[in-house]
Amino acid sequence: MERSCSGAACDSSRGSSSSSSHGVAAFFTAVLLTGALLPYIWRMAGSTLGWYLRQRTEGQRQSLLETMAADEKSFQAQQRQQAAKKDEKKTEGSDDDWENVEAEATASSGNGEKGVSDWDGIVSFFHPFCNAGGGGERVLWAAIRATQQRWPEAKCVVYTGDHDVHKDAILARVRDRFNIHLHPPTIAFLYLSTRRWVLASTWPHFTLAGQSFGSIIMAWDALSLLVPDVFIDTMGYAFALGFSKLLFRSIPTGAYVHYPTISTDMLASLNPSSEVGGQGVNAGQGVGMRGRAKRAYWQAFAWLYASVGSSIDVVMTNSSWTQAHVQALWGPLRAKKGKAATAQKTDTDIAVVYPPVAVSELEHEVEVSAASEAVREKVLLYIAQFRPEKNHHLILQAFATFLKKRREQAQQTDTPRLVLIGSVRDDSDSKRVYQLRLLANELNIRDDVEFHLDAPWPAILQWLRRASVGVNGMWNEHFGIGVVEYQAAGLIAVVHDSGGPQLDIVTQIDGQPTGFHATTADEFADAFDQALSLPDPLAWRERARLSAKRFTEEEFERKWLEQMDRLLALLK
Ligand SMILES: *[C@@H]1O[C@H](CO)[C@@H](O)[C@H](O)[C@H]1NC(C)=O
Repeated sequence: MERSCSGAACDSSRGSSSSSSHGVAAFFTAVLLTGALLPYIWRMAGSTLGWYLRQRTEGQRQSLLETMAADEKSFQAQQRQQAAKKDEKKTEGSDDDWENVEAEATASSGNGEKGVSDWDGIVSFFHPFCNAGGGGERVLWAAIRATQQRWPEAKCVVYTGDHDVHKDAILARVRDRFNIHLHPPTIAFLYLSTRRWVLASTWPHFTLAGQSFGSIIMAWDALSLLVPDVFIDTMGYAFALGFSKLLFRSIPTGAYVHYPTISTDMLASLNPSSEVGGQGVNAGQGVGMRGRAKRAYWQAFAWLYASVGSSIDVVMTNSSWTQAHVQALWGPLRAKKGKAATAQKTDTDIAVVYPPVAVSELEHEVEVSAASEAVREKVLLYIAQFRPEKNHHLILQAFATFLKKRREQAQQTDTPRLVLIGSVRDDSDSKRVYQLRLLANELNIRDDVEFHLDAPWPAILQWLRRASVGVNGMWNEHFGIGVVEYQAAGLIAVVHDSGGPQLDIVTQIDGQPTGFHATTADEFADAFDQALSLPDPLAWRERARLSAKRFTEEEFERKWLEQMDRLLALLK
């Protein structure tokens, strides 16, 4: 505070007599008071703005509710009509419709439990790119489906910037792309006109700050269309949630984070030397105005990000990796603000909610039993696009080492095979496949390696039934859906000792391993050997399958609803 005497204030105090020392004191008191009051002023301004928004949008809210109620009525009328038509057909003749009757009966008895879950408020999802059809969108739609099933009276609203797409088209795409069927009457799309503010191209400089500022503009846009009862961001726009909290303290906010906005690696490069200025590991980076400015910018941004992150009521992440990073960024401030107090068991209240993987289909398609052991061959399966980071080289080398040792020992007659399945997207992929074939030739394993390019799903399923071991050679893969699929199919995984496969997927079940981790070619070769000579492979397969269950759609829904419960509890 000593340095706040600056410019005109200092000059005037120096130039005048002792009577003006009162003036200085008054000035400092004023500065201190303003400083102390600033948070209150800030909050007051926020809630006034929020109050104004609520008034202004009340009409829109009412008309949305009315539209939804009308839609629901006509939807049910339509359903009744269809059911009646079916009944007509039934009475007309054939009675081979027993299954349908049964299905309807169970469906209606399910509806009878509605009473326990009758929350009928509005939950809105901030997802400006909702029609993109990627993994992030699968999470959004699965979350909405779970919410609709649990609270049939709840209204789901999605704020999106996809102007050109109508609701029916979006829902149809969700059905085709993800096989997710949503209940149309209680879902609405509200269209944002400010999406360009979050495009990286809008902010060639200070992109992080620019996009975050843009997301606040977009949040204002969204909230002036409708003020919801619960506000959830599923795209990583933490600042939108922070802004909502400023306007409406009483509206619970939730975030599903795929990836932190600022990485802890970036921040780590600030830490050691920032105070001394010019010493330490990253001395080079801070030298010069530019470096120092950049450092200050990141630090300021990280502080703002943490402050916003600590205002969010319920935080979920898509993996342990993301959880660890978000915890490092937001955790300390969240703990200070008492958010972590709501945590149940662990030292963090940030939940890991894995995105849903289609595990059930594989469980259905691939048998894992004593009988199916006879079908399994000594096949190592590696399903991956032929991209450089998938590290097929390493796997070929490891496989060659493994075969060589095995032949030297010469006790076994049957030769294991390595089967590489992958899609080839372009010329550079084809070239890579060619080089891999050359390498296999050089390593003398040409006849022991099979390439299957662009294999159709039924063929892949067939390999998942025949193979014993599933391989993944990529370093630091964030997750690895393919490895989950190996496990669901009962394959014993041999994966790179890093990233999601190591942290999240190939972990122990009941204190027993479900697969092997390896880093070097020799380690992989060893792991292949062990995986193919297990005394009781079936037990491993069963554990692997159990392990995959953590990533089913059902598991996602269960965890999502847990977090929704926490959000709704805040409403009371
Ligand atoms: C989480 O999201 C990031 C960013 O989209 C992605 O790279 C990662 O694979 C995701 N993790 C899971 C478990 O899907």
